[in-house]
Amino acid sequence: MDRDVDASSAFYHEDTFVPPYLMRHYWWAYVHPRGVKIFDRGWLINLILLGNYKRLVRAALAEFEDKPLGHILQLACVYGNLTPKLAKRVSDGGGSLDVTDVLPIQLRNLKWKLPARTPARLLRMDSTALDLPAAGYDTVLLFFLLHEQPEEVRQKTVAEALRVVKPGGRLIFVDYGKPFWWNPLRYLLAPFLAVLEPFALSLMATPLASRLPQSMAVRQTSYFGGLYQKVVTIKPD
Ligand SMILES: C[S@@+](CC[C@H](N)C(=O)[O-])C[C@H]1O[C@@H](n2cnc3c(N)ncnc32)[C@H](O)[C@@H]1O
Repeated sequence: MDRDVDASSAFYHEDTFVPPYLMRHYWWAYVHPRGVKIFDRGWLINLILLGNYKRLVRAALAEFEDKPLGHILQLACVYGNLTPKLAKRVSDGGGSLDVTDVLPIQLRNLKWKLPARTPARLLRMDSTALDLPAAGYDTVLLFFLLHEQPEEVRQKTVAEALRVVKPGGRLIFVDYGKPFWWNPLRYLLAPFLAVLEPFALSLMATPLASRLPQSMAVRQTSYFGGLYQKVVTIKPD
């Protein structure tokens, strides 16, 4: 959904820089307080993900069953209960959780959802320029972030995720994928995504594995006829 913005001033919200694509295409979902209130509902996110939200959350959390969990970074807040569930795992299983987001309103919203004394740090940072040390995390999770970013932003985000994960650590991506040839959603969804999620189609067109160094083997799982995917990869030592 487009909104005319005044490039000289409108990319700031609460005195904070907001990436232009976020302000232009997603202000209604993430920046506006009413948007946060409306969209942070499990049933609505589930509807947007065509009934797959719980399944995709389960798929992400399944990667966090081993203990100790180590240092985990979630790049960007998400609506629904993924992060509270991950935080519970971290507090039960030992480890630490950092969640970054470029929007203070999203971090505040997440804070409300986390139980008191959750061992999580909420950090305002742009995923393309993380103020975090290299090789500091055992796992970096990107849950439906890349499809919201224009290609050049996406490449920087992946580069940053690779930088901050330890050698031997994991990157976990859960996001849109390319629907299989027989999946009618391949054609039916494209016009809606083109309007509502304008960068999703370019993510879907290129395999996630090809965005990573060739030396990184990937484990890919597809869901809902390929429309969604989980990609797990390990940074070489
Ligand atoms: C990860 S997606 C959430 C996807 C999905 N709709 C959901 O809620 O489950 C949305 C979040 O990404 C954040 N975001 C987008 N671009 C970002 C960037 N460059 N750096 C940090 N956070 C970003 C937005 O502020 C928003 O909170």
